[in-house]
Amino acid sequence: MRDEDGVTIRLEDYRPADFQIHHVDMTVRLFEGHAEIDTTLELERRPGAPADAELRLDGDELTLTTLALDGVAVPAQGFEAAADRLTLRGLPQSGRFRLAIGTRIEPERNTKLMGLYRSNGVWCTQCEAEGFRRITYFLDRPDCLATYRVRLEADREAAPILLANGNPVGGGPLGELRHFAEWFDPHPKPSYLFAVVAGRLDAVSETFVTGSGREVALTIYTERGLSERAGYAMDALKRSMRWDERRFGREYDLDVFNIVAISDFNMGAMENKGLNVFNHKYVLLDPDTATDADYAGVETVIAHEYFHNWTGNRITCRDWFQLCLKEGLTVYRDQEFSSDERSRPVKRIASVHTLKANQFPEDQGPLQHPVRPTQYREINNFYTATVYDKGSELVRMIATILGEQKFRAGMDLYFERHDGEAATIEDFVTCFEDAGGIDLSQFFLWYQQAGTPKLEVSQIYDETAGRLTLRLRQSLDKGAAGTGTRPMHIPVRYGLVGANGQDLDVSGASTDARVDGDLIHLTGEEATVTFDGLSGRPYLSILRDFSAPVDLRYNEAEADRLALARLDPNPFGRWRALTDMVGDALVAAIRNGQDAAPDSVLDAMVAAAADETLEPALRAQMVSLPGETELTRLVARDVDTDVIHAVRVSTLAALGRRGQGTFEALRRELADTGAFSPSAQAAGRRALRNTLLAPLATAARDPSVAVTQYETARNMSDRLAALTVLTHHFAGSAAAETALGAFYERFVDDQLVLDKWFMLQASAPDAGTLDKVVALAAHPAFRLANPNRARALLAGLAGLNPYVFHRADGAGYRWMADMLGKLDTLNPQTAARMATAFRSWRSMEPKRREAAQAALSELAGRDGLSRDLADILDRTLR
Ligand code: BES
Ligand code: ZN
Repeated sequence: MRDEDGVTIRLEDYRPADFQIHHVDMTVRLFEGHAEIDTTLELERRPGAPADAELRLDGDELTLTTLALDGVAVPAQGFEAAADRLTLRGLPQSGRFRLAIGTRIEPERNTKLMGLYRSNGVWCTQCEAEGFRRITYFLDRPDCLATYRVRLEADREAAPILLANGNPVGGGPLGELRHFAEWFDPHPKPSYLFAVVAGRLDAVSETFVTGSGREVALTIYTERGLSERAGYAMDALKRSMRWDERRFGREYDLDVFNIVAISDFNMGAMENKGLNVFNHKYVLLDPDTATDADYAGVETVIAHEYFHNWTGNRITCRDWFQLCLKEGLTVYRDQEFSSDERSRPVKRIASVHTLKANQFPEDQGPLQHPVRPTQYREINNFYTATVYDKGSELVRMIATILGEQKFRAGMDLYFERHDGEAATIEDFVTCFEDAGGIDLSQFFLWYQQAGTPKLEVSQIYDETAGRLTLRLRQSLDKGAAGTGTRPMHIPVRYGLVGANGQDLDVSGASTDARVDGDLIHLTGEEATVTFDGLSGRPYLSILRDFSAPVDLRYNEAEADRLALARLDPNPFGRWRALTDMVGDALVAAIRNGQDAAPDSVLDAMVAAAADETLEPALRAQMVSLPGETELTRLVARDVDTDVIHAVRVSTLAALGRRGQGTFEALRRELADTGAFSPSAQAAGRRALRNTLLAPLATAARDPSVAVTQYETARNMSDRLAALTVLTHHFAGSAAAETALGAFYERFVDDQLVLDKWFMLQASAPDAGTLDKVVALAAHPAFRLANPNRARALLAGLAGLNPYVFHRADGAGYRWMADMLGKLDTLNPQTAARMATAFRSWRSMEPKRREAAQAALSELAGRDGLSRDLADILDRTLR
């Protein structure tokens, strides 16, 4: 599948491997400083494969120690071994044969955190996407499914716990000092789902009984002394298991389910069969050290990785171009889980907010690619917001188009047809065509065409006739990916809202498009929908629940927005109307040199905050101003981040002044009393109370309300909210410095809280931040090799702090480029991921644009860059 230049992999070049690996037998011997891996592959030439086909196994930085075919050492002319490939010739034409491969690796020196590595003394693995080839030579591709039997051997002191995929099948002592454990995974799986863990770990365990009565032993392992913090994760796991049974009819399929929390981990977590490995930030929680956002994050990630057992593991991907088959679908499933467990509108608003913040800029910039890409240089760079979040939106649109029951029938058909297989997007979509009795060929363009379609909406109301006419129009620009621009199937959910806030009956609409209740299927470039017999002009609540991931262009009157923000019966519609109004007002102020958004807009926010018919979490979302990063996206061209910062701060203060009485009363009413609960309701109350802190403190130009909250806080949400206001709005003040110092002292031994301390300072929009960040990079607690710590500082600045990252003098860009260069020598994957912060450089004003380009070009020109980082830089500059 690799090009001649060894660089670009293309979907169109896919073909199955010439050999099939039926079974893998592995012995992993762990020692201080190195590991020995003995692997026996049970192989067979695939029917129809050429008789002279060589066996070409993937490797990455490997050293071969032994090689035997059916028990006989392979002679030198029979193979060729390099660090990245093992090639064998003259293998049997038919029948199964056994190939024994010995490799030797050094987990302690593995700073890429791919393959087998050591984190804080614990041996662990990360194999997705192409990490298994760093352990042994293999057909390291997702369409090669095999059963695995794994034997682990290690020092009993250093590694009392020995874990692998599947069920435990044996174990015992090995002489005085060592011991072993054996595991067997009966479910054929691709190598990317392989995992082993060994170390000194604490555990919490519970039993789960599945719907059909099977007992499953659930265990969460943590580093020593931290297992009390795994209780909420365990609870989330059990709720996830029950939910997947109820909502999708999916039961767990092994005797054990293990989760291990690791402190050095590139990503959030990994769904290895029966042995999920997690970044410990998505397992460990208590009220003192974790915020409500952390609790919600743990719940989501636990659910997501668990749900992969069916969508990803039982049915996996044929090749990495099909990544959204498992990731987009599993994000959809975890979003649905959170909606059912917490609040549907609040979750939907949060997801749409994330999509717009992360995926829209990706889809509209140099890193644009379709949800199913057709080529890549480095697959790690395609675990993107487009594959994940837009991929989830596509599944959601299929559910919207089919309706709940047919969607479920399509999912059932997918599981029935493809269980045990490595499937494609075509396979997936065909199941919904068959179950729904519907043609989704036009819909399929969503997977192939990159870019955010524009949806233009206009309306004409004829007073005398009582007739409302809606016009919808779609268009798609050719972007960096250069894919097609054909009209797509866009489901547009809508409502007409009467003056008293009631939904009008829309069943009598006449149209040249297909309309199905409150859903317009826009399939052509344009559609017109007409409503007759109206007694007055209704308010149009368009694109309810964000029924399609489009860029809505609707010249909506402010009076309509104010009305919808107050009385749309669809809660998402209320948020949509208000935030579009706030966003437009801020962009206008920024572009026209005004000081702040107008009072009419601020008053609508104050009213939303006080509206007791809405749940507090939703009110918090409605009274939140867009962040500076979001404003950077909304301004879109010739961006000056100094102006954005100035306008946002004055608007925040103006909001605090307009709402002062209301906000103070609300904060008293919502004050923390009684025992801590992590429930969505309790978190929502804290969210609303804490959202009001910044406007009040900035309006008063006085940090004391935040100081008091910091000093009296009884949980991390309240404490961090106060500290954020102090560091971000009173940077450099005695109040801020005192609180930061106290926070450090209090949590100096807690790695996860120290990450917050680093990130908070890096994300402060203040002229002094860059100097502070330079000093923090030299702080004894800073470790570039730890991804969480590196992200806290680098992504804290480049991702969360446009005011400093986009400094007009270019110093932010240069610092970031320099740090990325250093990080790249340790951990290319994490460096490449954070380099995407540069993706919007072309939307800056000329001076910044030039500075960004210079910093990027300097970095891109360095020798010895990883393929990961070079790929991102090349595409960003192209
Ligand atoms: N399979 C991924 C983990 C992964 C990502 C492995 C990239 C290798 C490369 C996992 O299921 C995942 O998607 N994790 C997300 C969190 C999730 C809730 C979206 C992550 O790690 O960010
Ligand atoms: Zn995933």
